[in-house]
Amino acid sequence: MVLMIICVCNAINCKSVRAAVDAGAESPKAVQAHHGCKFQCGKCSSSIGDMISESLFERPGAPALVPAE
Ligand code: FES
Repeated sequence: MVLMIICVCNAINCKSVRAAVDAGAESPKAVQAHHGCKFQCGKCSSSIGDMISESLFERPGAPALVPAE
């Protein structure tokens, strides 16, 4: 399994982001805090946000997307 580094400044990889989300982190800042870090350059914020969104929609009971009329 290849682990992609998401946050270079704090060496947080994709598995670490998912672990934080599974533990309840629902924002990029919360993911950083889960790992005892703070944003340095902030370039990973949007990538972490995207991963959070994907994870939340994959959870059982997540709201279903409804096609536009
Ligand atoms: S890449 Fe995450 S704070 Fe710089």
